Amino acid sequence: MDNKEKQVIFSGIQPSGSLHLGNYLGAIKNWVSLADEYNCYYCIVDMHSITVRQEPAELRKRALMQLAQYVACGLDPKENTLFIQSHVHEHAELGWVLNCYTMFGELSRMTQFKDKSAKHAENINGGLFTYPTLMAADILLYQTDKVPVGEDQKQHVELSRDIAIRFNNLYGETFKVPDPFIPKVGARIMGLSDPKSKMSKSDPQGCVFLMDSPDEISRKFKRAVTDSDSENCVRFAPDEKPGVANLMNIYSSVTGKSFEEIEKEFAGKGYGVFKPAVGEAVIETLRPIREEAERILSDKAYLQSIYTEGAQKASNTARKTLRKVYKKLGFVEKPQL
Ligand code: TYM
Repeated sequence: MDNKEKQVIFSGIQPSGSLHLGNYLGAIKNWVSLADEYNCYYCIVDMHSITVRQEPAELRKRALMQLAQYVACGLDPKENTLFIQSHVHEHAELGWVLNCYTMFGELSRMTQFKDKSAKHAENINGGLFTYPTLMAADILLYQTDKVPVGEDQKQHVELSRDIAIRFNNLYGETFKVPDPFIPKVGARIMGLSDPKSKMSKSDPQGCVFLMDSPDEISRKFKRAVTDSDSENCVRFAPDEKPGVANLMNIYSSVTGKSFEEIEKEFAGKGYGVFKPAVGEAVIETLRPIREEAERILSDKAYLQSIYTEGAQKASNTARKTLRKVYKKLGFVEKPQL
């Protein structure tokens, strides 16, 4: 099928930390199988990441590492448009426009804003507040049909829908109204040291990074918090046994086994056998990704060719949408400069 006839997928990840198992199982793993059926754009959203202070040299390194990891996870740059957000200036421009069509109250209700402003009380900047309008711009610029993300980003995608609908009602059909696209398993991976909060880089002991060595991964899983019940039995009961449920979720996601099959496999074996087995399965899933990412990262020219071509392809689409928006708003057409 020609790319023009395919539905559009858009998603992005911030290069504000190293990619972790939550990013992989909640998002990237789901992206890999979509290229045949959809026209896919995957972005490294560096402009979003500066809503929290970053060390410049680290940010640059992580953005390139993230690109290498996208490819290592199986995103073929010929089949998918892989690019860096700051290379396509239309994101910032549409982000500004959408700020003017998003209500203060809507932005105030965003859970991520509330969480991040609690965590970074010394730096609650305007960008942190308007973060979701830039995300809406990312999505709407490409006339996106579906946005594959983990559960925590659903609220932002729903806001993007509301903004698109509001703009379309005012100015006529301008944007496709996108849908969130959330995996059945893996959409919410919890921290290994605290199964009540989502896995995130802010708790490195409970977070498995894609570049962790097998020894580190094994250690993190052996130390994973299971539950304080005396049952010592692998059973899927998220409310009673959130730690075990999280490990089952991870195991199911990397092996494709159902919860029932997992319960049978570990019947009578207890957590002492289950935890290292989950660790092993994760190690084997991540090993080829880590090795391939390291290889790609050492080939700077290849990486540069990927993000250059990606930005060119993305700009071609983004430019058209922005031109349409500016025209509808009543801006004077830009002369050739
Ligand atoms: P970010 O960078 O925090 O996370 C990237 C992706 O990983 C998913 N994710 C998880 N999934 C399951 N369990 C977890 N513990 C976990 N942690 C993270 C997220 O749901 C997400 O899919 N605002 C976005 C980035 C963004 C974006 C976009 C996404 C900017 N523009 C446009 C989609 C479309 C964010 O902060 O994700």
